[in-house]
Amino acid sequence: MASTNGITVRSARAEERPEVIRLQDMGFGMRGSPADAEFGPQVFDIERALVAVDGDRLVGHANDRVMTVTVPGGNTVQASGVTGVVVTPTHRRRGILRALYTELHRRIESEGQPLTIFYASEGAIYGRFGYGPSIAEVDVSIQGRTAEFRSTTPDPGGVRVASLTEAELALPEIYDRWRRLTPGAQDRPEARWRQRVFAESIQHQDGAVQFFLIHPDGYVILRRAWADNKNTATVHELRAVTAEAHVALWRVLLSMDLVHTVEANLSDNDPLPYLVTDPRLVRVTGRHDTLWTRVMDVPAALTARSYQQDLDVVLSVDDPFRNAGGVFALRVRDGVAECERTDRTPDLELGIDVLGSLYFGTYRARVYAAANRIQAKDPAVLRAFDEAFTGDRDAELGWFF
Ligand SMILES: CC(C)(COP(=O)(O)OP(=O)(O)OC[C@H]1O[C@@H](n2cnc3c(N)ncnc32)[C@H](O)[C@@H]1OP(=O)(O)O)[C@@H](O)C(=O)NCCC(=O)NCCS
Repeated sequence: MASTNGITVRSARAEERPEVIRLQDMGFGMRGSPADAEFGPQVFDIERALVAVDGDRLVGHANDRVMTVTVPGGNTVQASGVTGVVVTPTHRRRGILRALYTELHRRIESEGQPLTIFYASEGAIYGRFGYGPSIAEVDVSIQGRTAEFRSTTPDPGGVRVASLTEAELALPEIYDRWRRLTPGAQDRPEARWRQRVFAESIQHQDGAVQFFLIHPDGYVILRRAWADNKNTATVHELRAVTAEAHVALWRVLLSMDLVHTVEANLSDNDPLPYLVTDPRLVRVTGRHDTLWTRVMDVPAALTARSYQQDLDVVLSVDDPFRNAGGVFALRVRDGVAECERTDRTPDLELGIDVLGSLYFGTYRARVYAAANRIQAKDPAVLRAFDEAFTGDRDAELGWFF
C-alpha cells in the first residue's frame, strides 16, 4: 500500500469489481458486453488489480496478467500484460497513473518477469515509464472480387466454413501452433476465447454476423455486415501456420460474392499484395502500433531472444522510471546471446523505451539513431546492431488486451 496527496494505492477487493467496471466504462467511453462481465474476471483477476482510492471513492485502476510471449527465434518469455489503466476524470493529472504504475512495476520487478507489455491508448504517455511501441500493423481494404491471383500463386484449397462448435475445437489448437512461431504473440487463455470469440452474444454483434473459415493449418474469424448499402467482410483475425494456409484462406476471402470490401490488418511484410496481379488493390488505409514493450530486466530479456548475426556491443541503457538501466555488454554468437553488466565504455546509448521498441524486431535501430534516440560513435557498430535485432518473421500481437 502506498499513499500520496491523500490518494492511497492498494490491492482491489473482489466486491469492488462493479465499481472498477464503471470506472473503465467512463474512462474508455464504452460499455463491456455480457461476455466481458461473465468471462473477463477469469482473464484478469480482480484480486491482482491495484486501485487508487480517495476516501471511500475508487478513482483509479490498473491490472495485469502474466503472459507467455514468443520472442524472435521462437523462445518464449514471461511478460506482465498490463491492462485496464484508468483514472477518473475528476482526479486526472494529479499523479495517480504514476502512483499506480510505480506500485505495479515494483510488483512486476519482484516477480521477475523480464518484460511488460500493453496496448497504449495514447502515444505520448508511456515513454516516460520506459515503454516503446514494438509491433505495428497495417490496415488494408480490398474491393470484393477485384483482385486476381497471379498465375504462379498456389491454389492449395482445403478451406471450409465451420460451425461454432467446430471452431471451438479447432481454433485454439491452430492459434497455439501459430503463436509459438510468431514473435510478440501471447498464449491465450480459454476464458478469453469464450469472452471475445465463442460467446453466443459475440456471434451477432454491432450489426455483424461472425463466421469461421478453417484450413488444417490456419483460420479466419470473419465478421460480415450490411451498413449504408455496403457489404463489408471484416477479417477479425487470420492466423496461418503455413504459407499454404495463408494463400488458401485469402483465395476464399477475395472471391466472396456480394462483398464490396474486405477489411483486414496485416503485418508489414505480409505477402498478400504480391500474390495478386495488382498489388495496389491491397489498399493501405492506415498503419498503427499495437503492442508496447518495456524491458524490466535487460540481461534476461536480451538473452531470451535470438539474433540475425553475431554481435559484440556495449550498451548504455537509461531508465529514469525504474532501476533496470546501466551499462551492458551484449555478445551474440550463432544467434545465442550473453549479456552482463560491465564497466567498459559504451558503443551505443539509448533509452530503455527504445530498447523495448527494438525488442521484437519490427522497429529499426538505424531509424531511432536518425531520430537522435540512439547515440552511436561508430556507424559500423550501429549497422551491426540494427541488423542483428531484426527478426526472421514479422512480430504480431496475438490478442488485444
Ligand atoms: C491516461 C490516464 C490514465 C492518465 O492518468 P493521470 O492520473 O491523469 O496521469 P498522471 O497525472 O499520473 O500523469 C503521469 C504522467 O503522464 C503524463 N500524462 C498523463 N496523461 C497524458 C496524456 N494524455 N498525454 C501526455 N502526457 C500525459 C503526465 O503529464 C505525467 O507526466 P510526469 O509525471 O512526467 O510529469 C487518464 O487520463 C485516463 O484514465 N484516460 C482515459 C483512459 C486511458 O486512456 N487509459 C490508458 C489505457 S492504456
